Amino acid sequence: MKSIAALSLSEVNVGLKILMAASECVPFAKAGGLGDVVGALPKYLAQLGHDVRIVMPRYYGIDRQRYGLKLLPGTLTVPMGIIGEMYCGVCEGRLPGSDVPVYFLEHEQLYGRDGLYEVDNVGFLDNDNRFVFLSKASLEICKMLDFTPDIVHAHDWHTAAVPVLLNTTYLHDSHVGGKPSLLTVHNMQYQGNFYEGLMDVLGVGWEWFNYLNLEKDGEVNLLKGGLYHATLLNTVSEGYAREMQTAEYGWGLEGVVRERAADLYGILNGVDYDEWNPENDPYLPARYSADDLSGKAVCKSELQRDMGLPVRPDVPLIGLVSRMVKQKGIDILAEAIPRLLELDVQFVMLGGGEPWAHFYFGDIMVAHPEKFAVRIGYDNPLAHRIEAGADFFLMPSAFEPCGLNQMYSLRYGTLPIVRATGGLDDSVDNFREHDLTGTGFKFFNLDAQALFDTVGWAVYTWFNRPDAIGQLIRNAMAKRFTWEEAAQKYVRLYQLALERRPRGEIQEGRRTPLTVSAHKGAAPMAVSRRRAPARKK
Ligand code: ADP
Ligand code: GLC
Repeated sequence: MKSIAALSLSEVNVGLKILMAASECVPFAKAGGLGDVVGALPKYLAQLGHDVRIVMPRYYGIDRQRYGLKLLPGTLTVPMGIIGEMYCGVCEGRLPGSDVPVYFLEHEQLYGRDGLYEVDNVGFLDNDNRFVFLSKASLEICKMLDFTPDIVHAHDWHTAAVPVLLNTTYLHDSHVGGKPSLLTVHNMQYQGNFYEGLMDVLGVGWEWFNYLNLEKDGEVNLLKGGLYHATLLNTVSEGYAREMQTAEYGWGLEGVVRERAADLYGILNGVDYDEWNPENDPYLPARYSADDLSGKAVCKSELQRDMGLPVRPDVPLIGLVSRMVKQKGIDILAEAIPRLLELDVQFVMLGGGEPWAHFYFGDIMVAHPEKFAVRIGYDNPLAHRIEAGADFFLMPSAFEPCGLNQMYSLRYGTLPIVRATGGLDDSVDNFREHDLTGTGFKFFNLDAQALFDTVGWAVYTWFNRPDAIGQLIRNAMAKRFTWEEAAQKYVRLYQLALERRPRGEIQEGRRTPLTVSAHKGAAPMAVSRRRAPARKK
């Protein structure tokens, strides 16, 4: 892993042309933090003087009228290998609060349904075609728009095929041929692994179906392909950039990440403080600032009332807003919660995910109505009110590439209690009792005991050290994680990628797996090669 601060680049370019391919973008479509990032980063890149354009599906839920989307003339033709050519319309919109164009792919069969990736916790069976289509269409659209990007920026497995395509079938394309790519990994767990027959749809040739390219455990693994082929890689915190190289966090791809460690960077996400600011948050019953916290007390009592809890200013209120999945430590929370409820505390929880968790936490609410309230589902205004109304915000994640809620919590003076992993570890400073520094409470072991002990520590401090809590709140509310700063780091990576040759050119024609960094002047390291398996139909 390399440090961006250490990059010796002449000066940051202006006027870069950036093509961003992604499956989510706020406010149009969001399943998690990926949507927040793709909805924010381009705005700040544009403010820095760059021409950035986003390509994404027009999911059924994206209302054309509401967002003023205009259908562009013509049809986009996308070669889908063995399926043949597929066609789609393209709608153009703007990222709200900016002039950033967003191009929406209109395809009834692929995207005309509820849900982004799944319904009722079951992934769509055609997610392979849906996102290979997005990846290819993102490149094909450049011809339609006559847009020649300087760099193509892909996110997660959904568009991880883009760097592979750029190095193979699109190597000599009129608009994207020879262009470098950046792949941002938001989560190593989701890799886009599919039946090997997807090779025939990708259409890059079966010679790329080998363990140094797209193949993993006999399947196509799109993230793996992207990790090998992208000119540069980054993830969303420096901590996770280190962790994803280990067996504990790499989900089987840690070896690939390690091979490319010289091209891997960590950039902590920013916070959109236009949306997450207690001084002007329209969702709150009262606003407040670090200088005057009286509005926060109103937010707390309203939240207690709204969630059906006794309105008690004298008890610490712990908030959670999270996908209810193992990544978020929901299992250790389930184990710890009976003991936690023996303390004089209240919990408010918002989220959805694994069905067992809906029932389990629903039952806890029924058993402890005076202490525990859960709302299942997605509710952005309530998420804001929890950030403001709670005293503590709990994130017991097993892994967390960045995490956004802990950064929102800091701004709202709601002290995060986090497991020290990835972006949580990077963005929260542990409370030090002797000099009252820090912004929250951290635990290290991923188990119910450590979670219980640390919540206990926070609750004890709340009851017995109001001076310390007051100081921690001031420390927390003064913290900033700006997109201005993060966007500048991305520009430096784009610039570095431009200075590199695209990986596909290194050994074009030899079909050699590309596993080494194309450092300027450095000879590619020899790699052991395994023959591609015989083509299967
Ligand atoms: P992840 O992307 O892994 O889910 P992040 O912390 O990066 O985690 O981002 C989650 C985002 O989704 C945050 O903006 C959070 O407020 C929001 N969010 C998660 N669950 C809900 C929910 N049930 N209702 C409203 N917002 C939610
Ligand atoms: C992923 C990660 C989360 C991160 C988000 C945005 O969903 O799980 O930690 O904040 O992407 O980068």
